[in-house]
Amino acid sequence: MLSPSFLPMAYLAAAVLFVLSLGGLSTQESARRGNFYGILGMLLAVGATLLHDRVDSFGVIAACVIGGGAVGAVMAARVAMTSMPQLTAALHSFVGLAAVLVGLSSYLNPGKELEGAEHVIHDIEIYIDVIIGAITFTGSVIAWAKLDGRLSGKPLLLPGRHFINLLMVGSIIGICVPFVMASGPEGVVGLAGFHWLLITSVIASILGIHLVMAIGGADMPVVVSLLNSYSGWTAAAAGFMLSNDLLIVTGALVGSSGAILSMIMCRAMNRSIWNVVFGGFGTAGGSAPAKPAGDGKEEAGTFTEVDGEALADLVRDARSIVIVPGYGMAAAQAQRAVDTFTRKVRDMGTDVRFAIHPVAGRLPGHMNVLLAEAGVPYDIVLEMDEINDDFPRTDLVLVIGANDIVNPSAQTDPHSPIAGMPVLEAWNARTTVVFKRGRGVGYAGVANPLFFLDNTRMHFGDARASMESLCDAL
Ligand code: TAP
Repeated sequence: MLSPSFLPMAYLAAAVLFVLSLGGLSTQESARRGNFYGILGMLLAVGATLLHDRVDSFGVIAACVIGGGAVGAVMAARVAMTSMPQLTAALHSFVGLAAVLVGLSSYLNPGKELEGAEHVIHDIEIYIDVIIGAITFTGSVIAWAKLDGRLSGKPLLLPGRHFINLLMVGSIIGICVPFVMASGPEGVVGLAGFHWLLITSVIASILGIHLVMAIGGADMPVVVSLLNSYSGWTAAAAGFMLSNDLLIVTGALVGSSGAILSMIMCRAMNRSIWNVVFGGFGTAGGSAPAKPAGDGKEEAGTFTEVDGEALADLVRDARSIVIVPGYGMAAAQAQRAVDTFTRKVRDMGTDVRFAIHPVAGRLPGHMNVLLAEAGVPYDIVLEMDEINDDFPRTDLVLVIGANDIVNPSAQTDPHSPIAGMPVLEAWNARTTVVFKRGRGVGYAGVANPLFFLDNTRMHFGDARASMESLCDAL
């Protein structure tokens, strides 16, 4: 027989480990340690819960842990770095679905006698858990489909969409009354309000689909972190419903850190958080569909190309180089070749720095992780705000597989879907060379005038192969 204080103490220790984990994950140098604390905290939380005297169906739990663990291990081992956002969105959808199922089963079997106010509070906790869970579930499935290219990244802007959202939110709030009343004042638990719970789950599911369908490709990074936040609040709501303190604390940690990250990303992209939550409310980003110059998949216009020899000459002549990495560097796995190039030109006495846009690639910190993995020194990797003013004093900018993050139309075209998004002002350098394979547009599907400027040269080919040949030529 365990002491009654064992579980709360174990949960408290796990909660502290989760806080240390988040602290560790805030810098690259300590991220490994942060992960370790998180794993330790989770092992402690699950282990202590299994020792609880109300837990008895060990066979079912073992089957679920082994089955779920195997699926998770295969997914994690197979996923390419470039598909991490889709995987994250898929995992959030599992959290949402689990919350809905746990909410429905907790209504059917609360596991303890509830009376009067306690019963009403329990019903409301279930209701909130099911709503947030359903929105998170369907919203994350749509986010996964958009990020995976199974659905178009273009926003679906139905006429009167804000009214539709308002109607759904109003119905969800309204249905809570008959749902709570259905169980009767004497607090009889049973199926009486179950149909209301199902109806509200369906409405919340449609709301989740509608909210994320209305968001355009350029805002998807914020949506992923917002859904991360929703999944945390779902877990916190489940914690209240199940009277589980650790679930409340963990859910609140995930919910608030996801919300803070969403706000940081919104600020970096010059978007209002409400604009993203309500699907492009009142902005050009929401009302104007992506408008590429070509057919939406290709850039139209005449490029000025540069071949390998001429590119090597440009590099030899430059005293200062800024490298702007983007999604194409990740897709080509070119980071090691970029590191080799950096070392080579630094040995030649050239000043080389990296300019990192907050939403470069496909997940927060994507470029930093790749460059750190390749061994690029941290002190020459600068954030957008630290380096944007230096472009006019830069001889050569090498844009490696980046597109949207160096698109001047964000500043010059108020109707562009990326209008107002701060971008790296590569065009201000003496010469800019863009490494890409062909005429492919960026994630937002917007034409990029940078490619056609007089001081821009295009170097076509896979980024890794191009970088390796450049190193050879040097
Ligand atoms: P993108 O705008 O997506 O542009 C990438 C460019 O790389 C494409 O134009 C493509 O042109 C080129 N490319 C692809 N594979 C290549 C390869 N193997 N070798 C050379 N080039 C290659 O990337 P970005 O500039 O990094 O901007 C990121 C975009 O993703 C933003 O719109 C952002 O909002 C969005 N997004 C970001 C996140 C986060 S959190 N970072 C999450 C989701 C979405 P070619 O096809 O012609 O080669």
